[in-house]
Amino acid sequence: MAVERTLAILKPDCVKKNLQGEVIARIQKAGFKVLGFKMIRLTKEAAGAFYAVHKGRPFYDGLVEFMSSGPCVPIALEKENAVADFRTLIGATDPKDAAEGTIRKLYADNKGENIVHGSDSPENGKIEVAFFFSGSELV
Ligand code: RTP
Ligand code: MG
Repeated sequence: MAVERTLAILKPDCVKKNLQGEVIARIQKAGFKVLGFKMIRLTKEAAGAFYAVHKGRPFYDGLVEFMSSGPCVPIALEKENAVADFRTLIGATDPKDAAEGTIRKLYADNKGENIVHGSDSPENGKIEVAFFFSGSELV
């Protein structure tokens, strides 16, 4: 299996609940190598650009509002089969549908505020890591 990069974001609800450490521990225990992480607050413009693929969908404005509502923690991750394995680790978008033991099942309140983002393809993994991290920030 190919070594891939994927982007996680600990979303503002994760930071507000002080769950950053617990979630990062689960990610590391699952075998992901952390190449970079930082805490930032997204502007509405940056949140809108990051989730531009969803522009026009009914949840887009709420998603942009939420993602810019407080600090978040982008994390660049690397592992064999990272994209699919990370999505397995976090579970379905709606915590009601997420498998037992997944991060969203354990910690998320609802489909909108669901604790963590994960890239959806190896191509997007590369693009999304580059959205937040310069080459010198990936170590
Ligand atoms: P993400 O991109 O954040 O990893 O989430 P995902 O792939 O599991 O889900 P996606 O369809 O890409 O949706 C992006 C984020 O938009 C919010 N959302 N809310 N209320 C709703 O119906 C709804 N649908 C999506 C969630 O925060 C979701 O993670
Ligand atoms: Mg997505």
